[in-house]
Amino acid sequence: MAWQALADEAAIQEEEALGVQIGSHDIAICRLDGQIYAIHNICTHQYARLSDGYIEDGCIECPLHQGRFEIKTGAACGAPVSGTLRVYPVKVEEGKVWVELGD
Ligand code: FES
Repeated sequence: MAWQALADEAAIQEEEALGVQIGSHDIAICRLDGQIYAIHNICTHQYARLSDGYIEDGCIECPLHQGRFEIKTGAACGAPVSGTLRVYPVKVEEGKVWVELGD
């Protein structure tokens, strides 16, 4: 898959996440300091959707055990989470958030 329009830009509020599922991809679309980011939406610890958590200090916090991931890089910020979440390329065109899903 190539670029996909997944959301209206206006629907993504500052420091909020919108969960979007398309095919096998589960993505959290976030706005941080005015910029839009797209990060894999499933925690590396157990099964939880990060878009059900909240955003603070540049990180998205898992709703289950409060593990945190840096939104810009996907890097885990300490126990109980580890590893790095996939971060998707994003562009905004004509009011839509486009995400490059890759293969
Ligand atoms: S499931 Fe996310 S921190 Fe445990």
